[in-house]
Amino acid sequence: MGKLFFHHVVAGKPDPIFALLREFQEDARAQKIDLSAGIYRDEKLQPVLFRAVKEAEKLLPLVPKPYLPIEGDSRYLEKMGALVFGEFLWKAKGKTIFGAQAPGGTGALRVGGEFIKQEVGGRIAYSDPTWANHKQIFTRSGLEVESYPYGDFERCKKALKGLAPGTAVLCQASCHNPTGIDFSMEEWKEISQICKAGGLLPFFDLAYQGMGEGIEEDAAAIRLFIEEGHEMMVSCTQSKNFGIYNERTGAIFFVTESEGTAKKVGSKIKPIVRGLYSNPPAHGGKLVAMVLEKPELRKMWEEELSEMRKRLQKVRKKLAEKLSLKSIAQGRGMFGMLPITQEQALQLKKEFGIYLTLDGRINLAGLHDDGVDYLVRAYEKIVV
Ligand SMILES: Cc1ncc(COP(=O)(O)O)c(C=O)c1O
Repeated sequence: MGKLFFHHVVAGKPDPIFALLREFQEDARAQKIDLSAGIYRDEKLQPVLFRAVKEAEKLLPLVPKPYLPIEGDSRYLEKMGALVFGEFLWKAKGKTIFGAQAPGGTGALRVGGEFIKQEVGGRIAYSDPTWANHKQIFTRSGLEVESYPYGDFERCKKALKGLAPGTAVLCQASCHNPTGIDFSMEEWKEISQICKAGGLLPFFDLAYQGMGEGIEEDAAAIRLFIEEGHEMMVSCTQSKNFGIYNERTGAIFFVTESEGTAKKVGSKIKPIVRGLYSNPPAHGGKLVAMVLEKPELRKMWEEELSEMRKRLQKVRKKLAEKLSLKSIAQGRGMFGMLPITQEQALQLKKEFGIYLTLDGRINLAGLHDDGVDYLVRAYEKIVV
């Protein structure tokens, strides 16, 4: 036998959400409910293949699959730019924005993290709480990470004002994961001022465009910040709003002050991408571009997205009323948080087969009408 290089390795902790999913799949109880992973499900609790995506698949020609350019598919980037920033701003400012396609939102955030490490202050602050993967993505990019409190706006502002100049401030543009609670437009305006006064770099994570209030509404904060004249970063993913989770489709955009700066930023992003994954996967971007380009597919997609949004709003309303929880009622998108302890979250799993993360986050798309009643009964037994 050769030298042993690996036997000292100590087993790491499994990813909490993927581990829960596995436990759920192995649970034999008929009345189990999965509220853990951030995947949209329909009334029958099935994952959804968008009809528009299915039609786009049929239209994509079967052709050879050479590499994409390092920054990805230009048709996809053009269409995504218009979706994220709005047709008007994209036309007016597109040349000053550099975009790169990436393997999902995670890939886009990681590219952003590497750029901040290399070219900006090497520091980032995200909300507490936030999506569980943010910390790992940015620490693995070599950044110093910190958090600002989320939920109490006065405390949040105070923390943002205390950040060192040059710190990137990661903000979820809408449908905040895990709380479901977003800043109001008035609050965004104040955050914009704090970023200006403190020399902070806004970095938007847009993961649920169209799943909260609407396609335009869910990107309103990003557009406000552009109008306010910020240089900033925006990452987006189409995992959720096109239902193409495993196609790994997303993008990172750099909004800069001039065309020349955008080009220089692009020249620094390319070696970062080359060293991470060389160039992005192509298929998801081709599907997205096709759906957004063809008027009949786009209409179909918008209708499907609106159906999803309505279902989420309906489940949210019913649950909030039954539990009298304002925080659920005020939320948007897929997530909300039950005010429970870790022990109570574990009890829900053990006694009722209700799977959720220990912080009390629930994915509303994991519930249908009867599911809401079941969850309410279980919650009342455990908490009240
Ligand atoms: C807030 C937020 N950002 C980014 C992502 C990453 O998306 P992707 O699965 O495309 O990597 C997620 C996924 O859950 C998310 O909730």
